[in-house]
Amino acid sequence: MIRIAAFGDIHGSFDEEDLRMIQHSDYDMVLIVGDLPGRTHAGTLDVARRLARMPRPAYFMPGNHDGVSLIQLIAELQGNHALVERSHRRQFKLVENLRAALGPVSYCAYSLHEISIKGTAISLVSARPHSMGGTSFSYRPYLEKEFGISDMNQSAEKIKRLLDEARSPVLVLAHNGPAGLGSKRDDIFGCDFRKEEGDFGDPDLADALDYAEGAKIQVLGVVAGHMHHRIRGGGERVTIAKRKNTLCVNCARVPRIFKEDGQTLRHHVRIEISEKGMEVEQVTRP
Ligand SMILES: [Fe+2]
Ligand SMILES: [Fe+2]
Repeated sequence: MIRIAAFGDIHGSFDEEDLRMIQHSDYDMVLIVGDLPGRTHAGTLDVARRLARMPRPAYFMPGNHDGVSLIQLIAELQGNHALVERSHRRQFKLVENLRAALGPVSYCAYSLHEISIKGTAISLVSARPHSMGGTSFSYRPYLEKEFGISDMNQSAEKIKRLLDEARSPVLVLAHNGPAGLGSKRDDIFGCDFRKEEGDFGDPDLADALDYAEGAKIQVLGVVAGHMHHRIRGGGERVTIAKRKNTLCVNCARVPRIFKEDGQTLRHHVRIEISEKGMEVEQVTRP
């Protein structure tokens, strides 16, 4: 069995106690779904340097807040294409700085990582980096120059080729989850910030998962975040859902360190993979 700890959108909440927890745990490896900085878009590298000291092999997927400037983020949110184009050049340096700060943590972006632990093998396929959810192809100028990918179709094809190359049952690491899991505000990747709601999952990842299904490539699960658990207008979203034979988990409990009845609690997701398949559990504990 492989035991995995997954950390959802960190947004500034990751401390020494989290490192201690991993150190004293039975976890074999760690997944981090991205969005490191706090509310003011600050502190990314501080969090990354702490993650670099993770006492287990760790894999990091950049979110829409990681390795990008605040101007870029605003340009994307506003759909200001001229500003998106003008502001993208800094992203190369920001990603380089982020990768350096993460040290031994594997940087996952359209990549395949073959992992074997205690006789169990999985292929970790990482989907599109810096996803912002929905149908807009965020940070396109960077993705085009860095990966030669400039739209959702090309992105889906890239993920399909990674799935083709996978040698073992696949676990997908993404910042946002796939489309096709519901279009209500409280669905696992449902849009809670527009009155008309809607499916805010990634269409390229959904396309690739459909392909895997047809090609008989076993995809055990998708580990993602981005769509925070607390939804606009009140309530919380569903955080675990099944897409055909693939178990999808949204790890984004934000803030992941919080106080309840005077006690500090912290959140992560426990994943167990064995011949029986994949099991997930949302863990909130002191
Ligand atoms: Fe986030
Ligand atoms: Fe995000």
